[in-house]
Amino acid sequence: MNIIRVRDYDEMSRQAALFISSQIAEKPNSTLGLATGGTPVGTYENLVAMHRDGLDFSQCFAVNLDEYEGLPASHPQSYAYFMHHNLFRYINLPESARDIPSGSAADGEAECRRYEQAVRARGVDLQLLGIGHNGHIGFNEPADDFPRVTHRVALTRSTLDANARYFTANEKQPEFAYTMGIGTIMAAKKILLIASGSGKAEIMRKTLLGEVTPSVPASILQFHQNVTVIADEAALGLI
Ligand code: GLP
Repeated sequence: MNIIRVRDYDEMSRQAALFISSQIAEKPNSTLGLATGGTPVGTYENLVAMHRDGLDFSQCFAVNLDEYEGLPASHPQSYAYFMHHNLFRYINLPESARDIPSGSAADGEAECRRYEQAVRARGVDLQLLGIGHNGHIGFNEPADDFPRVTHRVALTRSTLDANARYFTANEKQPEFAYTMGIGTIMAAKKILLIASGSGKAEIMRKTLLGEVTPSVPASILQFHQNVTVIADEAALGLI
């Protein structure tokens, strides 16, 4: 595991975008696994600026970690909308070259199966990850075992509380989501984990130095062959 300690959020975002752009330079038709949440927003801003300076996404394909059940792509809190709003509307990644579980699928289980097959058939070259306060990656919550494939998950109270800030009082916050499994994530050739702020310090300590256990889902990354962590001093403050 390669751990890059940077000064702050801005530096994390710049370094993460450089890492992703190097992947595209190395392999222009990379499949990029993308993430949502507050942490990658600055990374996407940097990628947009790099695109203005010539970074070409035209041969890339993008998949995403997860989506809320019940939210159509047009819903401002859906992750499909997040990706459009923060990245896709600014870059030259063809619309046909993006995939994300559909939150509005009539049959959620069937959608999870479709998505798993699609991601596995393509193969992810570089998966970007944030981390939840309880160690979740994608929406793989602490559990008794590591989920292997894309599945429907009941969100924990901690995750619901952490993400409640995005929903207004009269919007119902979804309590279920579809997420790549830990197995799906671990099948990526390279993984880039980003983290910022002292609120992530304890979970980063457990993830990087603690026991590998499904009660800290991100701890499985210790077993991946090619993980880079880019995190700021605050997030690595207990290491
Ligand atoms: C959500 C996403 C995760 C993300 C996490 C942390 O739950 N499903 O992929 O890593 O939030 O979010 P933040 O970066 O805002 O702390």
